[in-house]
Amino acid sequence: MYRNSLCLRHGMEEGGTMVVMDVSSIMVIFGGTGDLTHRKLMPALYNLLYEKNLPENFCIVSVGRRDKTDDLYRNEVYESIKKYSRIKLDEELWKILRNKIYYQKFDFHDDDGYARLKGFLNELDENYNTDGNRIFYLAVAPEYFELIVEKLNEHGMVENNKSWQRVMIEKPFGRDLNSAVYLNKKITDVFSEKNTYRIDHYLGKEMLQNIMVIRFANVFFEPVWNNKYIDNVQISSSETVGVENRGGYYEKAGALRDMIQNHMLQLLTLTAMEPPVDLTTDSIHDEKVKVLKSLQELTPELVLKNAVRGQYEGYRYEDRVSPDSDTETFAALKVFVDNFRWAGVPFYIRTGKKLPVKSTEIIIQFKPLPGILYFKEYGELMPNLLVIKIQPEEGVFLQFNAKKPGTLNKLIPVKMDFCQNCQVGMNSPEAYERLIYDALRGDSTLFTRWDEVEYSWKYVDKIAEVWRNEKPDFPNYKPGTWGPTDADNLLLKDNFKWWSIGGFYDENL
Ligand SMILES: NC(=O)c1ccc[n+]([C@@H]2O[C@H](COP(=O)([O-])OP(=O)(O)OC[C@H]3O[C@@H](n4cnc5c(N)ncnc54)[C@H](OP(=O)(O)O)[C@@H]3O)[C@@H](O)[C@H]2O)c1
Repeated sequence: MYRNSLCLRHGMEEGGTMVVMDVSSIMVIFGGTGDLTHRKLMPALYNLLYEKNLPENFCIVSVGRRDKTDDLYRNEVYESIKKYSRIKLDEELWKILRNKIYYQKFDFHDDDGYARLKGFLNELDENYNTDGNRIFYLAVAPEYFELIVEKLNEHGMVENNKSWQRVMIEKPFGRDLNSAVYLNKKITDVFSEKNTYRIDHYLGKEMLQNIMVIRFANVFFEPVWNNKYIDNVQISSSETVGVENRGGYYEKAGALRDMIQNHMLQLLTLTAMEPPVDLTTDSIHDEKVKVLKSLQELTPELVLKNAVRGQYEGYRYEDRVSPDSDTETFAALKVFVDNFRWAGVPFYIRTGKKLPVKSTEIIIQFKPLPGILYFKEYGELMPNLLVIKIQPEEGVFLQFNAKKPGTLNKLIPVKMDFCQNCQVGMNSPEAYERLIYDALRGDSTLFTRWDEVEYSWKYVDKIAEVWRNEKPDFPNYKPGTWGPTDADNLLLKDNFKWWSIGGFYDENL
């Protein structure tokens, strides 16, 4: 049962001293009637309340275009939480949250709407003791990011005097480097970098946060985490669904912009980064940026050789998709991190829609030992694999060779499988819970710093440019398969193969 002991102030360790910060605030959600708010943000807020991780002095104001009373909006939110929350909705707790939720109707272009919102927030400050602190969550289409930020500024809603105002921005952050630079300028003219929280919701996932712990808190991983011992790294994120009702958005994005520029390169940086000097936000971001700066300089020839794109059969018939669309629904890359640790080790990345399983995994394939002892008798041994399972299963899987019990002296690969979310009582928080919680505390470690965005666009733009100038032969893969055959050839040329993901490792043994 919920005990009403929410803290007004949260403490965070910074350089050994406890810094106490004010987390009392109003969260203003632009796009409060949208899919993201209903499916992710409201359930996340409910779960934070359940876990006693919301400040007591806190309320939520949702902005949308549709006509609704507070009561009607609250009823809709109730239904969404019931449907999507990972923790079953408790009626008593809901009453507490319900009374903290308000709805404001106006069009994002409408100055009167912002003026009304400002007055309303000031009133709520009095009722909730929120001291002028705000989180502005932009759960809206990217074309509105600039407009809303400008209007907030014009209406004097971003002051950062005694109070704080932060902005949380959904992806995509730009559609190439130029548009991202432009957007960033518009945002940072109003909100400082410190108060800008660029969301890559993958970073809020439990196992992403675990990658650094696995690497830097275990003596048996870190010493072999380099080109002396690692043969290749495979980072896959596959979906079984197609574009569903997001055809309009996806047509402009494609797999490269929708997945590679952000989520996939974030997975790569966490896998490849050096240990940071400490766990402060900037130290971690500095190391991640160094990886992005070390990515192999791409030439058009390298793009043609090392980047594969695909489109599933039937994509061109999807809603709001052009019948001759060249948008890729699959992308695979061979990436090199040109630094001392990783020189010569290929990182293979692939992502796509309508693939056989829904899964995100990082597979580290280790180099074979000299074939002196067992090779003659048993042939080539299976390589050691370390698999970091991000979603839907969370955990770590280690494959190594052992003797099969019996008189025949056979060697077999065996597995140690740690499944984090299979354990009773290990109900991992949703990414958005962690991200909202961190934004409330003023901790931007799990958000992307501007230079990460900048360097990842620089890399991805080179690929996009070559692809723009080359007509693809689409569609080129059947739904339910692992993408175009060229994606397999990318590894076969190097005498590797994609390891199966999503729990089907046995296929390879
Ligand atoms: N949905 C997801 O799972 C998901 C996942 C990751 C990232 N995102 C990102 O999150 C953002 C929102 O996505 P979404 O799926 O929630 O979009 P959505 O369902 O289309 O919702 C858009 C919201 O914006 C409001 N809106 C649009 N134009 C407006 C205007 N001129 N004035 C006032 N309100 C306006 C809509 O209000 P009305 O409905 O009242 O008109 C609605 O609340 C996008 O940037 C998307 O890329 C979404």
